Amino acid sequence: MEQRDLSQLDGRWIVVTGGSKGIGLGIAHELLRRGAHVGIVARNPDDLATARKELEAAAPAGAEVAAFRADTGDEADVARLEGELRDRVPALSGFVANAGTGGLTSFLDLDVAEWDRIMRVNLRGTFLVSQLAARLMIGSREADPDGDRSLLVVSSVRAHQFRPGTLPYSCTKAALNQFVRAVAVELAPHRIRVNAVAPGMTVTPLMLERTPNVEDIAAQRIPFGRAGQPSDVAQASAYLLSAAAGFVTGANLAVDGGEALI
Ligand SMILES: NC(=O)c1ccc[n+]([C@@H]2O[C@H](COP(=O)([O-])OP(=O)(O)OC[C@H]3O[C@@H](n4cnc5c(N)ncnc54)[C@H](O)[C@@H]3O)[C@@H](O)[C@H]2O)c1
Repeated sequence: MEQRDLSQLDGRWIVVTGGSKGIGLGIAHELLRRGAHVGIVARNPDDLATARKELEAAAPAGAEVAAFRADTGDEADVARLEGELRDRVPALSGFVANAGTGGLTSFLDLDVAEWDRIMRVNLRGTFLVSQLAARLMIGSREADPDGDRSLLVVSSVRAHQFRPGTLPYSCTKAALNQFVRAVAVELAPHRIRVNAVAPGMTVTPLMLERTPNVEDIAAQRIPFGRAGQPSDVAQASAYLLSAAAGFVTGANLAVDGGEALI
């Protein structure tokens, strides 16, 4: 008997926040490659249009790409996004809460504006979009009760391995790890899986802007001797979003070349 390849995502609609750049864009490319239809969400309309064009050019025949402008930390924006997704996406089967932000300020220099800025995107934003995604996926269950559905949250090695200057960022990612475990339990009765990927140092535009010598640092700090690429995180993410991980929920998958181990 021929076995279906469970790692493929044929015809499934998956939405990625922060999908215009870096890790989110890498995930969007991998999902398309595996046959999914992909929606990307970002704040900046120009970045969004550029990423959409790039994804459309790479999409296999029949794969759809949609772009949505929203600030994930803004309640009104997320409410509007929910309406737009209901109109555009026939049945949501996966969602990646990837949008995130960080900073590099020591504890004693940190002001409340910087603390709130990071909490707003990483925690409030992830909560808002995850609840939206859960509602849409519960809604799509009626038409396809046995379909695989999952939410994926992008955490970080910093959730448990601290580097000076990253206090609010680390706190948000540690909280997201517990968020994933808790929401995994709450959504299990709805047959929605909830997991996290935890990238280590990964080469993205933001990372290069802040740390141009990322590869030199990675060579010393990471057991595998190199920094991660968005494609590394994308492969792990695609697995967790696929039916190949159909009984995996509440997991936290490190994608860091061993960075968290030392
Ligand atoms: N790059 C790394 O080394 C690394 C390591 C561990 C975890 N991460 C996590 O991976 C995720 C992606 O990071 P990246 O390095 O690709 O960053 P990036 O800055 O290159 O991309 C972030 C994306 O999120 C979007 N975004 C930011 N705030 C947003 C908001 N309020 N509303 C909507 N979109 C918003 C941006 O537009 C962009 O598309 C983040 O959650 C980050 O914490 C990154």
